[in-house]
Amino acid sequence: MEQQENNIIVRSIGVLTSGGDAPGMNAVIRGVVRAGSAKGLKVYGVKNGYTGLINGEFELLGKRDVSNILHRGGTVLGSDRSPEMKTQKGQREAIRMMNNIGIDCLIVCGGDGTMTGGNALFEQGFPVIGIPGTIDNDVWGTSTCVGVDTALNTITEAIDKIRDTAASHRRAYIIETMGRDCGYLAIQSAIVSGGECVLIPENPISIEEVADTIENAYKRGKKHCIVLMAEGYPLKLDEVVRQLDAMDLGFTARGINLSYVQRGGSPSAFDRILASRMAFTAVDWAINNQFGVMTALRSDTMTPVPLKDVIGKHRELNLQYMEISNVLSR
Ligand code: F6P
Repeated sequence: MEQQENNIIVRSIGVLTSGGDAPGMNAVIRGVVRAGSAKGLKVYGVKNGYTGLINGEFELLGKRDVSNILHRGGTVLGSDRSPEMKTQKGQREAIRMMNNIGIDCLIVCGGDGTMTGGNALFEQGFPVIGIPGTIDNDVWGTSTCVGVDTALNTITEAIDKIRDTAASHRRAYIIETMGRDCGYLAIQSAIVSGGECVLIPENPISIEEVADTIENAYKRGKKHCIVLMAEGYPLKLDEVVRQLDAMDLGFTARGINLSYVQRGGSPSAFDRILASRMAFTAVDWAINNQFGVMTALRSDTMTPVPLKDVIGKHRELNLQYMEISNVLSR
């Protein structure tokens, strides 16, 4: 790493994707490679997240190596959840590997765990920039992350189909969405699908309240009832369905876990644009030595948010969405 006064002269960048894959991660990789190459930088793709970083799995990527990936889901670099990266030994090994091959700085794309890993490297003196990429939308500091919009579109399409069967058979469907401890996908899905009820970890309503809502919908002459349940809700889906089905609510209850379907698929136009902007911005910040930050979307502006502020916290959920879906689904 060459330094001039206090500045690093950036000649090469590493890029990795880590944690749960999210649609748009390939657009991030392409963006970093193309923007970096346009500035005359060498760009190394790091395979398999932080595990690959620690093992030195690097591949020099040119502009043509990232052709035809903008529209593809998943991540062509691969991803991983690396326990070693949580240790000082793993972090030191990662830095040693990057120094050996001559990577001057690293751009990491993923969720909270990825930003935590990036911050650990930064605190040990290695220049890092984060790009938020996760369908959960739980990363603090940014209004949204790469992958969220596509996941919501996927969920919307699935619920539209489930609603056909729900109406034909006069059923209540309890639909589980991902999000780990965050109810964002569930609460937003309720609005896009006209869902009558939302079960989220941030404001968990009781099964009795859910039962009342379902029974009420039946009595008001609704043909079906859609309940969105975040994976972080304190009860398991099977248990929720079992309890509701044992009550006489008018509708019979069925459960569906949308599971990993939500993580796959071609990224939406919004996610392609967001990913491209974030990648372009991250390369620009790298050249200008703005490290230890994450590209955050705030009021349509790319804002540098310190990684140390991002980690260990979660983006706050706007509970007003719950009220909106409750009122509008009546
Ligand atoms: O962070 C994305 C996510 O899909 C969460 O919604 C979910 O809790 C978790 O990853 C599942 O992780 P894994 O892919 O390791 O099963």
